[in-house]
Amino acid sequence: MLDIKFIKTDNPKPIPGPENPLVFGTIFTDHMFVMDYTEGKGWHDPRIEPYAPISLEPSAMVFHYGQEMFEGLKAYKTDDGRILMFRPDKNIERANNSNRRLMIPEIQAEDFLQAMKELVRAEQAWIPAKEGTSLYIRPFVIATDPFLGVRPSYTYKFMIILSPVGAYYPEGLDPVKIWIEDEYVRAVRGGIGEAKTGGNYAASLAAQMKAHEEGYSQVLWLDGVERKYIEEVGAMNIFFKIDGTVVTPQLNGSILPGVTRRTCVELCKSWGIPVEERKVSVEELEKAARTGALEEVWGSGTAAVISPVGHLRYEDEVFQIGDGGIGELSQRLYDTVTGIQLGRVEDTFGWTVEVK
Ligand code: COI
Repeated sequence: MLDIKFIKTDNPKPIPGPENPLVFGTIFTDHMFVMDYTEGKGWHDPRIEPYAPISLEPSAMVFHYGQEMFEGLKAYKTDDGRILMFRPDKNIERANNSNRRLMIPEIQAEDFLQAMKELVRAEQAWIPAKEGTSLYIRPFVIATDPFLGVRPSYTYKFMIILSPVGAYYPEGLDPVKIWIEDEYVRAVRGGIGEAKTGGNYAASLAAQMKAHEEGYSQVLWLDGVERKYIEEVGAMNIFFKIDGTVVTPQLNGSILPGVTRRTCVELCKSWGIPVEERKVSVEELEKAARTGALEEVWGSGTAAVISPVGHLRYEDEVFQIGDGGIGELSQRLYDTVTGIQLGRVEDTFGWTVEVK
């Protein structure tokens, strides 16, 4: 159990009211959690302090070699005033998998959860109540040694910041247009694709900008070797409903193991819908789209929740999915996932954790 010191801000910011549109990731709460790591001493000095710029040496290793990991999860306020987090154990497990891959010291799961709960409790007034909003929790670790040689850092900072958010995409639940990328790749097996780390997102930017210029919201990545099999979208995992079966790319080492991805798989199975986690080739998709077997496509992610896809573009072809609107299963998943998160649908899976 951490002994978290609380240094309260004497300059609180105004909390956005329900009239505020809450553009994703733009507003931050009054406090943040910080804990330091020093080799030989371990993680130490856990504290909640005023949200403020931090001071690092320009030579801090994170700036040069990208040794860092991050996570994303959300807290919600229920109609009866309780605060719920959704499957935080899965984010903590993934954070430590990322840490191991990046040679960052692990954080005890109980300490990680305690830090998030205490910060969310302290900032509960910031949890927005309007439909489609939540308090986004962004834990991250950065390497802080002032050193230009390449090796794992001996010192780190673990921080958690909070941001009241609305929909990740400006489209909200309206279907997005996705560009299947055939020039750049995001990750390869054996690389860092399954870790949640900044480098994967930096690698995605050139293709994302190209897609944006063509009027597409996001890029759907193909595998880095054969450029034949579907991987993920970067900000979300991807699902297809083909002839009544839900299909999603199997976790192969280069795909991020999404918590919402897992939730979709578990929910669909519980509803008796066949689910296949397997390789999905772009040819299979093209064929299914042409014959009308491709009934629905959606992305899943913490920030994106369930995001229906209305159009897919591959090379020079554009496929409309169904009537280009929200599919029935996508809507059911969205309603169920957000219903459980908001305490409106019974949580028979035990996925929510109350912050008391
Ligand atoms: C999340 O869904 O929480 C993520 O971390 C994706 C990020 C691109 C916003």
